[in-house]
Amino acid sequence: MNHFLDIHTTSQDALREIIDNAARMKAERAGKLKGTLDSEQPLANHMVALIFEKPSTRTRVSFDVGVRQMGGETMVLSGADMQLGHGETIADTARVLSRYVDLIMIRTFEEATLHEMAEYADVPVINGLTNRSHPCQIMADIQTFEEHRGSIKGKKVVWSGDGNNTFASFAHAAKQFEFDLVFTGPPPLDPEPALEGMYTIMRDPNEAVAGADLVVTDTWVSMHDPQSARERRHNQLRPYQVNAALMANAKSDALFMHCLPAHRDDEATSEVMDGPNSVIFDEAENRLHAQKAIMRWCLGV
Ligand code: CP
Repeated sequence: MNHFLDIHTTSQDALREIIDNAARMKAERAGKLKGTLDSEQPLANHMVALIFEKPSTRTRVSFDVGVRQMGGETMVLSGADMQLGHGETIADTARVLSRYVDLIMIRTFEEATLHEMAEYADVPVINGLTNRSHPCQIMADIQTFEEHRGSIKGKKVVWSGDGNNTFASFAHAAKQFEFDLVFTGPPPLDPEPALEGMYTIMRDPNEAVAGADLVVTDTWVSMHDPQSARERRHNQLRPYQVNAALMANAKSDALFMHCLPAHRDDEATSEVMDGPNSVIFDEAENRLHAQKAIMRWCLGV
């Protein structure tokens, strides 16, 4: 069973196959209307459940469109509207859905929910984000880096800000795709201890970004963070804002990434987000192509 749960638990060969397939499928669609079906229809006769226990724009739309382009059908489900949100166990939900659908994508809170879904489902399960990781996003980011700059192997990637779930998937990717990852942020918001050894820490953001090929940041208050922590987090993270002065310390052709949604002029200035080195909307587009390749890998089609 090919579940796609995290980048560090997926083989390097599989990850490379997914990235290459995503690039190939993207090239094949160039210039076509978004609703045009792909020339190959590997998901014909497949039904895909897309479960959201948290809000989403990119994940929801890109999975839905991607399945349809490949000839499949989708069912978008809100956790709150399912019996899952009213006491039915994850295990029973997984067993029941497996009788109706061929593939499950779930965005949820606890990592344990994702793993229990995968344990009890008879069909592949994809991680559409948990409080601990966001692997589909980082697969799209690897695809984006490589289409602009070639292989990411050996490159320097600097994350400035909160050591959150999206950073965790970058750390997993650093190990698998063999790039150097630097975290710069305030000690209270360091990445979780389980990621130690996958990145280095530099507290001074200007020193950290020296020689960077890619600078990345994310929102300062994630969906699972309490709003009561907002002011404290903003005060802690303000020195790590990605602005023109910080980018000037990176390589002159360093790319800028943000998975979106962004709070403009908090974690990154609009000048950087809309600047010539920003690839934020390519990242968003590549969610579509990367996830199509992930679904094909999961289903072996
Ligand atoms: N980056 C990302 O996952 O976006 P959504 O929350 O809109 O899906």
